[in-house]
Amino acid sequence: MISLTHTPQWRALAAHRDTLATAHLNELFAADPQRFARLSLCCGDLLADFSKQRLTAETLALLVQLAEARDLAGFLRRMTAGEAINATENRAALHIALRAERPYQVGGEDVLPGVLATRARIRELSDAIRSGSWRGSGGEPITAVVNLGIGGSDLGPRMATQALGAYADPKLTVRFVANIDPAEFADTVRDLDPARTLFIVSSKTFTTQETLANARAAKAWLGDADPARHFIAVSNNIAAAQAFGIPAGNCLAMAEWVGGRFSMWSAIGLPLACAIGMDAFEELLAGAREMDEHFLTAPYAENLPVLMALVGLWNIDFLGAESLAVIPYAHRLSLLPAYLQQLEMESNGKRVTLDDEAVGCATAPILWGMAGSVGQHAFHQLFYQGTRLTPIDFVVPVGDANPEQEALVANALAQSAAVMKGKTLEEATNQLLAAGKTPAEAARLAPHLVCPGNQPSTTLLTQKLTPHALGSLIALYEHKVAVQGCLWGVNSFDQWGVEHGKQMAREILPKMLSGEGQFDASTTGLLTAIRAWRKP
Ligand code: F6P
Repeated sequence: MISLTHTPQWRALAAHRDTLATAHLNELFAADPQRFARLSLCCGDLLADFSKQRLTAETLALLVQLAEARDLAGFLRRMTAGEAINATENRAALHIALRAERPYQVGGEDVLPGVLATRARIRELSDAIRSGSWRGSGGEPITAVVNLGIGGSDLGPRMATQALGAYADPKLTVRFVANIDPAEFADTVRDLDPARTLFIVSSKTFTTQETLANARAAKAWLGDADPARHFIAVSNNIAAAQAFGIPAGNCLAMAEWVGGRFSMWSAIGLPLACAIGMDAFEELLAGAREMDEHFLTAPYAENLPVLMALVGLWNIDFLGAESLAVIPYAHRLSLLPAYLQQLEMESNGKRVTLDDEAVGCATAPILWGMAGSVGQHAFHQLFYQGTRLTPIDFVVPVGDANPEQEALVANALAQSAAVMKGKTLEEATNQLLAAGKTPAEAARLAPHLVCPGNQPSTTLLTQKLTPHALGSLIALYEHKVAVQGCLWGVNSFDQWGVEHGKQMAREILPKMLSGEGQFDASTTGLLTAIRAWRKP
């Protein structure tokens, strides 16, 4: 396939970018009173407003042509047919099937019966735990569930459990431990009773260093409690889970065709189902399913994940944006940026295409962010007066019309408007004069108050942070990532860089313990300092 940056569609976009280069968003709004209507879209629980992006309807039309030229339709056909689109690992990427109610095939086999059987098992286990009928080995009911997992085996259910805290059963504590730093395990279990605590060891491979270390810590903390009453495993490697001591009856299988960062809809969601109940978990799946159907059927020009992907690519590859800030205006969504970091950066932080060529343009953005309004008092200054282009996704669950909620929503809208609008020298001068400064003082200070504005943002509104809306939101970002991966031509479903890092960590540990081994000069120096500090 001709490389992306050499396509006529890419060149057309580059030429179009040059015609837009000097346009300020304020001018684009002034030129088109219908801009909001033209560049916003409702989809199920979500409303997406792209009108504050530095583009026009023509830009979107050109981007859609790029998607067509890169055979996005063919990619989606191969994905939904269960083909091995994760070509470097020879695997399908069929997370869509996890929330499906219709058959999907992998290797000629319908996966739906297995998906439904796992869903039934999640219901059975979460019901038993929530109702108190699952007993610890001393006969006490379980009152705390602790998930031990990392990356995709942690971030999704952790984020969603916090996001849906309003739906959680207050009688059941659900916590998460990911870090190999023993402090996280210690802090998490400090106030828990081993007799009433159940651990879910979540690991697709069941070989991940951090998770196994925490599982061993859990075993030690439980003492001689029966593992059959205090451990459940979710894994694709049931043999390893059993070898660890978790009986087969407590192991939930995870399919090979589910990538870790796309797995919160699978049995990896068990801790979430324990927190909010299986009916609410099914609502989450229904929300994702609604987004899937939209994604697979809507024309690109009205297709929310496709448009989000195209807008992101425009910002990265044509406007030169390095990062994407995700700012959810909801305390309960404060883990959303961390979740999306793995989804976007582990998926598309790639430099080689599936044709084994260099990509030739920038790929995944550096994704970062924190909950608003807190972030306003930390990093928004850079949006206003920094030197970088910083696209932002404002995610705003609107909620009820009470004064406190109104203040939160007003802050979100004010920020997205203000980073776009900016403040001119004249406005700054007038502000200072109105505040009683002399004309000389106003002239000196005014440049420091000027905000260029023109920061691009997308606002994603949802009526309420329900399980259904969260499911749609997360599926939206999943599909956005897949579309961008398809256009860049990279494999969004492997993570060889992370595997390299994992291997390095595995290699350094025994060498550190033995004091032998060859390292680069910096690592040798650091190890020498560490050993000197540790001398009694
Ligand atoms: O962080 C790298 C990674 O390979 C992720 O892709 C995965 O979600 C995580 O490790 C955990 O892997 P596992 O579920 O196999 O323990």
